[in-house]
Amino acid sequence: IKKIAVMTSGGDAPGMNAAIRSVVRACAYYGANCVGIYRGYEGLIEGDFIELTARSVNNIINKGGTILKSARSKEFRTKEGRAKAFENLKENEIDGMVVIGGDGSFTGAVIFNEEYNFPIIGIPGTIDNDIFGTSHTIGYDTALNTAVEAIDKIRDTASSHNRLFFVEVMGRDAGFIALNAGVGAGAEEILIPEENLGLDRMLESLKKSRRTGKSSSIVVVAEGDKSGKNVYELAKYVEENLPEYDVRVSVLGHMQRGGSPSCFDRVLASRLGVKSVELLLDGQTNLMVGLNNNEVISTSIKEAITGGHSINQELLRVSDIMTT
Ligand code: F6P
Repeated sequence: IKKIAVMTSGGDAPGMNAAIRSVVRACAYYGANCVGIYRGYEGLIEGDFIELTARSVNNIINKGGTILKSARSKEFRTKEGRAKAFENLKENEIDGMVVIGGDGSFTGAVIFNEEYNFPIIGIPGTIDNDIFGTSHTIGYDTALNTAVEAIDKIRDTASSHNRLFFVEVMGRDAGFIALNAGVGAGAEEILIPEENLGLDRMLESLKKSRRTGKSSSIVVVAEGDKSGKNVYELAKYVEENLPEYDVRVSVLGHMQRGGSPSCFDRVLASRLGVKSVELLLDGQTNLMVGLNNNEVISTSIKEAITGGHSINQELLRVSDIMTT
């Protein structure tokens, strides 16, 4: 392998730049050429490439977003789109590719590899942490800290006005951000898709907390929560059933995807970037690099997207005990 391409794809995540930097520098270290692809698979189809040297990635380790930009490509889902993509790779003499992204991006990678047998290594980059084969995805730690900081601020005003706040956090179909930010920010209740305990339980818990002297509360709701009500409907439901509560809603939204990456995400991105290049140079393909017990490992990309995810039961128990 002489020339490696790198792209960021799907929803951006803090630490993607640190991962790009790591891939580029590892290529330079091992004497391989490196090419950046703009806007993920969109740029691959359009041939929107840029040569990257070790100096192209100066001063980006601390930057949020992605210098290569990102997109969710509809055209790459078509055979014609993927054919164009392959032509561009051939024309530019690229013989391996690193895809930094989440499950949508990895699904594209698996299909592309099956069709063209093109060497690809995945790096998990998403705030959702919903990828099998790694304890942490790049961006998750930063997003968690951003969510906790925001909820801390909401707590100040909730407390001043004796209010109940419903705070919606991101995470798509996974409750990692909600559960961990909820525990970290001391939420009264945490609603996650993996555990639907029903709305009666929430009402009971809120009633109890009033009885035991709490004057304000925070309920963290994962965007993928399966209670059957969205965050505004939940707030209305509580207002109707517990008129003693003055309820407000705050949806944190895309601010969770921005900001300077945490040290954890920078280190993780640096480690996974190096490993991805080493695997490609070693002739490996169809793998995703990840972290397990603080060791860098690799898993088949297919397994990474089909392996599912499980929520930490011990943490759920801790969260219950903390609301006493
Ligand atoms: O996958 C990252 C994520 O931020 C999810 O948490 C969220 O559901 C989704 O992307 C939002 O996507 P978009 O930026 O396209 O609105």
